Amino acid sequence: MTGTTATTPVTVRVPAKVNVQLAVGAARPDGFHDLANVFLAVGLHDEVTATPADTLRITAEGHDVDQIPLDRTNLAARAAELLAARHGIEPNVHLHITKDIPVAGGMAGGSADAAGALLACDTLWSTRSSRSELLAICAELGSDVPFSLVGGAALGRGRGELLTPLPVGGTFHWVFAVADGGLSTPAVYGEFDRLTAGTDVPEPEAAPELLAALESGDATALAGALVNDLQPAALSLRPSLSATLAAGTAAGALAALVSGSGPTTAFLVKDAESAQQVAAALLASGTCRQVRVADSPAVGAVVV
Ligand code: C5P
Repeated sequence: MTGTTATTPVTVRVPAKVNVQLAVGAARPDGFHDLANVFLAVGLHDEVTATPADTLRITAEGHDVDQIPLDRTNLAARAAELLAARHGIEPNVHLHITKDIPVAGGMAGGSADAAGALLACDTLWSTRSSRSELLAICAELGSDVPFSLVGGAALGRGRGELLTPLPVGGTFHWVFAVADGGLSTPAVYGEFDRLTAGTDVPEPEAAPELLAALESGDATALAGALVNDLQPAALSLRPSLSATLAAGTAAGALAALVSGSGPTTAFLVKDAESAQQVAAALLASGTCRQVRVADSPAVGAVVV
């Protein structure tokens, strides 16, 4: 079935994520790791604009866009190709990405662009995919891509792609410290394997106290339950992140952790005022390149 291509551009806005719990199991035969991955969407956004074109083309603007590929290896391009192939049409679209999510920072920026491109193309081409068709394409694109589409909060099982929405009872305030350069996700998982070799890695499970803290909107309880099993691996590859974590904690954050596979570090704070104080202290500490303040939860990918 082919749809009718709209002539006006379609823009989709997609949030970043932080993992409030990232429980990692042993490596599977396919090389992936089973997870209990509690995703929380945060109010930092990329935008993807899809415009009809003669061929598939990607452009980008924003911080560090020189580090993202603008060819067909970009996940956003792959999203357009997968959708087009399913509908027997050519993926002729110009995708323009406006980046505000730190690049290669452990905040699912690449996944956000893929989810955004998928929704933008589905709208532009009138291919009218169902939610479950979109989620299936997202899962094919990457483990974090389905969550970028749905936003809010969710527990990701499997490699992170099998989502169960989670209730969130309030607004959580965050500061994010952006480090110099990125960290490769496969490299961080590889370091996790190296650090856990010869040990009995438990089955990953979501912590009931963490889910209860999310549901009640209790930041202090959430702070006590935050956990990232990839943090030792990220710190092993990037020891300087310890100083960033310490600086945010000393400045009054309720809790500090590496975001996903890093190197962005995340600081849960009690309110918007505290966020400004912790952000200023982190910047003054000289232990990070940039700081960002954001609230959660945020809605998933939406056409704007
Ligand atoms: O799914 P995605 O393409 O984002 O995964 C990138 C890499 O991260 C994988 O190739 C794998 O090395 C690692 N990964 C993993 N287990 C997961 C998710 C990702 O080992 N659950």
